[in-house]
Amino acid sequence: MFSRSSSRPALGTVWRLTLWYAAALGLCLALFSGLAYYLLAQALLASDRQVILDKASEYLLSGQRGRLEAFLTEIRLQRAVEERAGFFVRVVGPNGDTPVLIVPQEAAGLDLERRLSPPAPPDTWQVLSDRRGRPALELATQALPGGYLLQVGRSPAARLKVLRHFRTALLIAALPALLLALAGGWLLAARSLAPLRHLVATVRGIDAGDLSARVPLGQGEGELEELARRFNLMLEKIARLVGGMAQALDNVAHDLRTPLARLRMTVETALQGPESPTALKEALADCAEESERVVRMLNQLLDLSEASTGILRLDRAPTDLGALVADVAELYAYVAEEKGQTLELGGVTPVTAAVDPGRLRQVVANLLDNALKYTPAGGRVALALEPAGDGVRLCVDDSGPGITPEERGRVFERLYRGDKSRGQRGMGLGLSLVKAVVEAHGGRVEAQDSPLGGARLTVWLPV
Ligand SMILES: Nc1ncnc2c1ncn2[C@@H]1O[C@H](COP(=O)(O)OP(=O)(O)O)[C@@H](O)[C@H]1O
Ligand SMILES: [Mg+2]
Repeated sequence: MFSRSSSRPALGTVWRLTLWYAAALGLCLALFSGLAYYLLAQALLASDRQVILDKASEYLLSGQRGRLEAFLTEIRLQRAVEERAGFFVRVVGPNGDTPVLIVPQEAAGLDLERRLSPPAPPDTWQVLSDRRGRPALELATQALPGGYLLQVGRSPAARLKVLRHFRTALLIAALPALLLALAGGWLLAARSLAPLRHLVATVRGIDAGDLSARVPLGQGEGELEELARRFNLMLEKIARLVGGMAQALDNVAHDLRTPLARLRMTVETALQGPESPTALKEALADCAEESERVVRMLNQLLDLSEASTGILRLDRAPTDLGALVADVAELYAYVAEEKGQTLELGGVTPVTAAVDPGRLRQVVANLLDNALKYTPAGGRVALALEPAGDGVRLCVDDSGPGITPEERGRVFERLYRGDKSRGQRGMGLGLSLVKAVVEAHGGRVEAQDSPLGGARLTVWLPV
């Protein structure tokens, strides 16, 4: 049922989630790497410049102490040392002459004479690039006494190399990090969307005709598991309803067959028999009775579809409820008599209320019909109407098998029929109609145990 192909549609979502997850993680990584790179570059730059400034202030100190010539000589003596250490040192005179120029190998071929004249103002930094545009010399300019300028610099190559290595390392680390993000994202998305995938598979199964398909439930407590659970409950309900419907249709067909067969038989007998007017009249009366039964059955079905769509219209009129109950009981007295049952009409209080008399007749008739139908021959059925609170209470008791506590909620469901009622006629519609009518009147109905040993159905109606 849960084949690979059936889980394909949800995979689209899995991949989308995965890509989002990887993109978000990738962005975080990029931001983090960028920040780390920037901070490292700044720190290296600061330390490089500090080295240059330290060297410059070394010379500045001696330049400010002694005479200029001695100072220049001192620098010149350092030429070999500075060249080896990679330092660029230049002193510029007030007329633009350069009494000292020490150029390390790294800065050779930069066309320095041209590019450094006129010299930059004191206390500024300059960066000179080589022909390929890469920074080759970074230098600071400082003022010396007498209008002279001291320029000290160094190649940033070492720093740039470190930064280049760092960039390469970041790029190399990015690939496995992204793969890891993709894998993690996929795992996360696939796991959390599993209930949805099962849901899709189940719906497809049902679509393909497997009405018993259910979503496998995991251990989780999340919203998706809740959805799966609710979905299963809904399927259960629908399956019950569909099953009930099929059963009801079966029952209707069955129930209609009997009166219709009798109808045909009566007609055929009348057609073949002697043409005495009395016999024909009798046959016609039988036909009327049978068709009346069919019409009643169909009306019940129509009533229910009306009630189930919530458009149960009430034709209210002031009605004596006591008389109504006694009336219906009288109609059923002969049914009870036929089954050898006693039908007791207990305290019936005369109460007048604005109700729909036709509908209430159906209520009493359905309750009595059930009581007489499910109570075995020789049993007792009792009927009572009495005031209760600001309304009236109608109790129908019987000495039959009763309704178990587990069944009490369900007997009012449409199309529900108890196991013990299989052999009896009926469609499981009676009590649901009773409930619909009573609730339309603003009342309620309940099933309980009866003191007679069977079931008691109580209807409360506001007056
Ligand atoms: N008086 C009763 N005693 C025992 N069971 C009852 C009684 N009334 C109703 N039931 C149970 O409730 C079910 C639903 O009743 P109802 O809606 O009238 O349908 P139906 O009478 O067509 O079976 C019955 O099938 C039966 O199992
Ligand atoms: Mg019934």
